[in-house]
Amino acid sequence: MSAKENLLYVGIDLGTSQSAIAASNGERHVVDSFVGWPVDMVARKVVKKPVLVGAEALENRTLLDLHRPLEQGLVKEGSEKDLAAVRELLSHLVGLARNGHGGPVRAVVGVPAEALRVNKQQLRDILRGIVDGLMIVSEPFAVAYGEEALLHTLIVDIGAGTTDFCVMKGRYPTEEDQRTLTKAGDSVDELLAKLIADRHPEVQFSPHMVRSWKEAHAFVGEPGERIRVSAPAHGRPVEIDITDELRAACESLLPPLSETLLDLVAAVEPEYQERVRKNVFLSGRASLMRGLDRALEGALAEIGGGRVARVADPVFAGAAGSLALALEADANDWEKLSTQPS
Ligand SMILES: Nc1ncnc2c1ncn2[C@@H]1O[C@H](COP(=O)(O)OP(=O)(O)OP(=O)(O)O)[C@@H](O)[C@H]1O
Ligand SMILES: [Mg+2]
Repeated sequence: MSAKENLLYVGIDLGTSQSAIAASNGERHVVDSFVGWPVDMVARKVVKKPVLVGAEALENRTLLDLHRPLEQGLVKEGSEKDLAAVRELLSHLVGLARNGHGGPVRAVVGVPAEALRVNKQQLRDILRGIVDGLMIVSEPFAVAYGEEALLHTLIVDIGAGTTDFCVMKGRYPTEEDQRTLTKAGDSVDELLAKLIADRHPEVQFSPHMVRSWKEAHAFVGEPGERIRVSAPAHGRPVEIDITDELRAACESLLPPLSETLLDLVAAVEPEYQERVRKNVFLSGRASLMRGLDRALEGALAEIGGGRVARVADPVFAGAAGSLALALEADANDWEKLSTQPS
């Protein structure tokens, strides 16, 4: 077997809430970006593992020192434990993708555009020993590559920690072509929790409950039907109507997203602006909010109208795009791209 055949290529979308991997051997996995270590020797005996990753870590969270190591797309600052958690997470993902493969691994990792500026070296250090070849690219660029939407398009990747924008002009995007906002799924959760607590001070709920209510019902614009959820008040389950709070929390994304969208379109050469407006792609799971595509088209209507469409698979779009990049890059590209500033 030649060296090239023995290589495993992987595309990784390192996300605040979920991380996904797609590999050249067909393996595809997504894990919740949580890592936990048993708090004491009893917990270690119960969970029977030195470290837990993903859903397993979440399920056992009361027994663990639980970390969600990425924040607004970056490794949380100054925490050795969070660095170790990102390492565990990546090593877990690569292990799943290897599925017995013992040869070298070349990885393309997508991170928020902003993280490229500050976090590249850190990520390189974390991945040393886990993969053999590395290319770090911006997340929305990976999505664009996977969708083959490389010319006169605009990608908006709405995740948990960040919303990442990238205008594609048929070449590797520069800093001016990209934007990162820290308004995304997490900020919706925070506002929703606050609005519910203000309206129903007697009701008890956790951040996980708020997130799952949002994921089941998120919408912008006119509500279809009233949204009622159940939570305990003084220990007794009650039903509360969260329709107005959910709408307000989800719609809080509209002004910053619309503003950035219009800014980026305005910065495109005038003859291409219309094509870009008609080729806006939404990815990231927070883009699943009902009505979001139409609401952003509403914003584009102010400047002549446009078309906004979701990618077919928002969970794997980033990882699949990174894998496509990995497969099409040649030996020189790895070096060149991994040292290229964003
Ligand atoms: N059906 C849904 N409707 C609305 N929001 C959703 C839905 N499903 C998931 N989300 C939200 O999407 C966000 C996660 O999206 P995604 O998995 O793309 O982010 P990530 O890649 O982990 O984060 P980031 O890109 O910011 O690092 C979370 O806030 C989650 O609650
Ligand atoms: Mg993401």
